[in-house]
Amino acid sequence: MTIPPRPRACVTGWPVGHSRSPLIHGYWLRTYGIEGSYERVATPPGEFKRFAASIGIDGLRGANVTVPHKVAAFAACDRRTSVAEAMGAVNTIWREGSVLWGENTDAEGFLGSLDEEATGWRREVRSAVILGAGGASRAVAFALLSAGLERITIVNRTIDRAKAVAEAFGPRLFVSDWKEASNELGDADILVNTTSLGMSGQNRLEIDISALRPGAIVADAVYVPLETALIQDARRLGYRAVGGLGMLLHQAAPGFERWFGIRPSVTSELRGLVEADILGIGAKVS
Ligand code: ATR
Repeated sequence: MTIPPRPRACVTGWPVGHSRSPLIHGYWLRTYGIEGSYERVATPPGEFKRFAASIGIDGLRGANVTVPHKVAAFAACDRRTSVAEAMGAVNTIWREGSVLWGENTDAEGFLGSLDEEATGWRREVRSAVILGAGGASRAVAFALLSAGLERITIVNRTIDRAKAVAEAFGPRLFVSDWKEASNELGDADILVNTTSLGMSGQNRLEIDISALRPGAIVADAVYVPLETALIQDARRLGYRAVGGLGMLLHQAAPGFERWFGIRPSVTSELRGLVEADILGIGAKVS
């Protein structure tokens, strides 16, 4: 009798050393007593297809895909979920028989973070302003549309990229010029930053959020630092603030379930573990 190989999964990117996915999935493997592993695999640009061929071999159930391979992963998959199709990018892959499947879990991750940290939001939120027009913006737009929002305004420095997102997602999407960002906030129930502004080493996001209505939600996809200036402003002004860490944690859960068969929980212990890692790295950098 042959012994089946231990289940494995990994994250692949270039570089991939910074990824916190091994910390998250390692925690879940230990928590659920699964004799498996989750590794980092560095895949140079142009070599994603070769990496994809390894999925399904020697217990490798699947992978998370990070920068710069999310579009290459989309192309390499034989089939994709409707969410991944809408996003044009894949961050989670697995094999079913000979078929390589691709999914994008960022939208689900964003919804999970709001459900956890802004309880009741689905009843209250009708309109949104999203800053940025990259992959994270598309995920957030998709998520908010799926939650039934009536109006989503994409504000981006490069207006053509904002228009491209709006065209991809239909008539509930609008665009506005970067300089008008603050003026868009009066009608918004939620503001989401998906730009890289506010991230460690980047410029801060210069926006006056005081025009938001009382009780509005301010969310930031940035999670290093854990509390961006935007999130601090939001708290100071009494808004409901949702940092980016929740999105990172919740987007990881569907992949773990695909590969290891258990839907994992985002616990406060896991959150603390990743927060400590981020703070540790922050200390080394400064
Ligand atoms: P991701 O896929 O992670 O969302 P991305 O595609 O690199 O990342 O998008 C980064 C976003 O941050 C973009 O919306 C970018 O604006 P442009 O489309 O104009 O490049 C935004 N961004 C980055 N630096 C910025 C800056 N200094 N001012 C305003 N927006 C900025």
